[in-house]
Amino acid sequence: MKFDSTEEWKSKIKRVLISEDELRTEMKKAGAYINSVYDGSPILLVSILKGAFVFMADLCREVTVPCEIEFMAAKSYFEGTVSTGHVEITMDLKHDISKYHVIIVEDIIDTGRTLNEIKKILGVRNPLSLRIMTLLDKPDRRVVELKADYSLFTIPDYFVIGYGLDYGEFYRNLPYIAEFSE
Ligand code: IMP
Ligand code: MG
Repeated sequence: MKFDSTEEWKSKIKRVLISEDELRTEMKKAGAYINSVYDGSPILLVSILKGAFVFMADLCREVTVPCEIEFMAAKSYFEGTVSTGHVEITMDLKHDISKYHVIIVEDIIDTGRTLNEIKKILGVRNPLSLRIMTLLDKPDRRVVELKADYSLFTIPDYFVIGYGLDYGEFYRNLPYIAEFSE
């Protein structure tokens, strides 16, 4: 991905889908959910890089009970724009998760293939419990049955950018979520 100018980069941002204000409001609710469900438990928030890094940073500051934070990096293989379900862990957790209630903090569930694999990989390590929290859910695109335990926003089948989500590694730095103009 290469842009000839900032104007060209900007021209692909079609419209704001979820504003900074809306993100803040839902972030507080998501934090409150974690605070109420897990009070008193050993919690491990696991974010999948890179897409969920902004979400994790904002979410964890709404958590007011003790928690630890970890990152995993996974490479999903794609056929065109659709993931194949083949996932390779390129950076693994350093924790023995059998002593934790694990919450996977993900940016978006599209076909569901990537997270389905990660859920299996973590599941066999016997965490005390395993839940999925996703910033965005595109249920129309699902090909494997996978439901998040908590989803902040459900969106139609648009390709979205910003707030950690990329197109060709760009636009992760936008403070809002926008529809991408192909
Ligand atoms: P899945 O395996 O189809 O659920 O793919 C999930 C991954 O595809 C996400 O973790 C994102 O990295 C990427 N992805 C899916 N939809 C979008 C989108 O609209 N914008 C940016 N990335 C997306
Ligand atoms: Mg991702």
